[in-house]
Amino acid sequence: MTRKATRISQLQDDALNFDQAINVLTRSTQNHSKKHFTFIDLFAGIGGFHLAASQNGGKCLMACEIDKAAKQTYLANHQVPEFVEDITKIDVKNIPSHDLLCAGFPCQPFSQAGFKKGFNDIRGTLFFYIAEIIRVKKPKAFFLENVRHLLNHDDGKTLAKIKQVLEELGYSCFYKVVKASDFGLPQYRPRLFIIGFKNKNIQFEFPEKILLTTTMSDIFGKPCSRSIGFTLRVGGRGSKIDDRRNWDRYLVDGMEYKIQTIDGLKMMGFPADFKFPVSKTQSMKQLGNSVAVPAISKTIEAIARYL
Ligand SMILES: C[S@@+](CC[C@H](N)C(=O)[O-])C[C@H]1O[C@@H](n2cnc3c(N)ncnc32)[C@H](O)[C@@H]1O
Repeated sequence: MTRKATRISQLQDDALNFDQAINVLTRSTQNHSKKHFTFIDLFAGIGGFHLAASQNGGKCLMACEIDKAAKQTYLANHQVPEFVEDITKIDVKNIPSHDLLCAGFPCQPFSQAGFKKGFNDIRGTLFFYIAEIIRVKKPKAFFLENVRHLLNHDDGKTLAKIKQVLEELGYSCFYKVVKASDFGLPQYRPRLFIIGFKNKNIQFEFPEKILLTTTMSDIFGKPCSRSIGFTLRVGGRGSKIDDRRNWDRYLVDGMEYKIQTIDGLKMMGFPADFKFPVSKTQSMKQLGNSVAVPAISKTIEAIARYL
């Protein structure tokens, strides 16, 4: 074999090892799954929640995503009986009954009217539509995901309002900042997970962290100067490698390298054969918007015990 062929075969082995590591993480979840449950996937993006819930025995009844390019990627990878675009246009009565409501929703400020009006304070926001579905469809549980910044948004008033509304609807509310790196991926990506149950006796506990076993060198299959990578983002590409805003350039094997879709997929815990029927730029944007699948999957595994 030539040196080049040896290197290619070595890289293929490294890629395989990384996929095996991710498979072990997700399969350990699959092995523990006992029950089947149904879910809906709101603000679905490319379906990070769909993948994670399916790994735990979940069956998706409906997905909702307004972005046409994200919808294309979603439908190329997941089967769903019903796909709706704009959540503000849905007639809630037509939403199928489901066990688990999943929603990685955009963070928006609420009115400054104070805390007296509860549910009425959130009218006109995207969170209102989630709350309305919970009010009418009464799922057994919900799993909401947002940026960590929601914890302190508007001096904590936004989160306090969300909690107030969910509790007014008769649900419990547990929340925690969870990192992708808590569940095996070499990326911090801190996100706020908000979980609630209709049965308020359930004392939900977030899953235990997993020891970090993969590094950016595993992602690239070559030595990388960083062991944990930058959090994937939307936009802001093209900063210099030493700029503090840089997130897509790395020093790999001593050379500057700009991450590609396949690296992003691995950093988010998606399978390497995940399809992107969209441009490269769109695929990176969609990954930057998405969720770290193993962290979501382990959390759904913990939720599913109560469904
Ligand atoms: C943070 S992303 C969620 C990504 C998703 N969790 C994933 O795994 O890819 C929020 C999504 O909400 C979508 N969105 C915003 N407004 C919407 C609306 N009115 N109806 C449906 N989806 C909407 C955006 O297009 C975006 O894809």
